[in-house]
Amino acid sequence: MKSIPIYPASGTLPLSTDEPPPAGALLVDQRGRTVHDLRISVTDRCNFRCIYCMPREVFDADHAFLARKELLSFEEITRVARLFAARGVRKIRITGGEPLLRKHVENLIAQLAEIPDVELTLTTNGVLLPKLARVLRAAGLHRVTVSLDAIDDATFRKMNDADYPVSAVLKGIAAAEDAGFGPIKVNMVVKRGVNDHGVIDMARHFRGTGHILRFIEFMDVGSSNGWEMSAVVPSREIIERIHQVFPVEQIEPNYTGEVAERWRYSDGSGELGVISSVTQAFCSTCTRIRLSTEGKLYTCLFAQSGHDLRTLLRAGASDPDLDRAIAAVWQHREDRYSEIRTANTAGLRKIEMSYIGG
Ligand code: GTP
Ligand code: 5AD
Ligand code: SF4
Ligand code: SF4
Repeated sequence: MKSIPIYPASGTLPLSTDEPPPAGALLVDQRGRTVHDLRISVTDRCNFRCIYCMPREVFDADHAFLARKELLSFEEITRVARLFAARGVRKIRITGGEPLLRKHVENLIAQLAEIPDVELTLTTNGVLLPKLARVLRAAGLHRVTVSLDAIDDATFRKMNDADYPVSAVLKGIAAAEDAGFGPIKVNMVVKRGVNDHGVIDMARHFRGTGHILRFIEFMDVGSSNGWEMSAVVPSREIIERIHQVFPVEQIEPNYTGEVAERWRYSDGSGELGVISSVTQAFCSTCTRIRLSTEGKLYTCLFAQSGHDLRTLLRAGASDPDLDRAIAAVWQHREDRYSEIRTANTAGLRKIEMSYIGG
């Protein structure tokens, strides 16, 4: 029998008798942070098996994916998203697993696009974009971010472990561009000894294209990816390596709390970025909350359990009831995992990134 070794069996909602702040007021957590980004996972499945995210030994063996009836419906997701928007969320990111595997995800985009004043974005591995980019654009999606870990096939196949060639992703990026998704952010997770030799080639490929390549430090999310500090390539090192070939200079963040540190090529050939969640934690400005595929709220990527909203949703809770639950989750929040990471915490049983969203 298959077990679910890495998903929390149940979640709880902090029981709160406190009145939430008045309707429309911002929610503030125990560390003074307000909620600004909602990341919604729409499937725990993926057509890739990236070695740092869904290693085959675990995900093709003793792993049970969620059943259809467990997933939140598009209507349930939109209802939660509207309540968060009323509490100050201004950015929604659709993630997975691979979000484009969720049937008719464009219908969800269309529903979410009706929420005013919210930027709607999606993170994908790109291979379904040739089929879906136009539909997503027409449905009201504002931006897409595409993951790509190497520009040579042998290394990329090693990273995705599902035999996808680089060209499949490049076609997806081109399709997104044709569909009108302006500059596209390309995320590369760097794992020492596996794809870090390709950093310069990736920079060379994307400079001058208008797309923004971001190098991400390999993180100890989940409990299955065999993370070790020795496999992390610190962002400083990445920047130094690139600077020796293509001189770069740092630029101002777009906004406080931006995850990526921004850099530009000194010769004017565009922007790049680094995401240093291991060597330079950014928890003090973390304004993100995550809604899992089956309706649990997580206030940290490295959480060990979530707060079950689905039970409330399906028990007929009113909007004020749901708002009260959401407010309680955020107001109780005090996590800052990346700031307190040690060799010991890396081994905790944490939720998987494919379940909670990248
Ligand atoms: P943009 O507005 O598009 O730049 O969004 P973003 O900066 O949030 O980028 P994105 O959503 O593409 O996140 C990029 C990567 O940063 C993720 O895939 C994670 O690896 C990492 N990341 C994002 N949010 C968090 C976070 O809250 N904590 C940690 N530790 N890492 C994060
Ligand atoms: N470390 C860093 N980033 C990760 N992602 C998934 N697993 C990890 C990890 N272990 C992120 C990557 C990828 C997105 C889908 O999730 O940014 O592009
Ligand atoms: Fe799939 Fe993205 Fe995880 Fe790779 S990183 S296995 S593409 S969800
Ligand atoms: Fe936020 Fe947790 Fe990431 Fe820190 S580790 S930035 S608290 S999600």
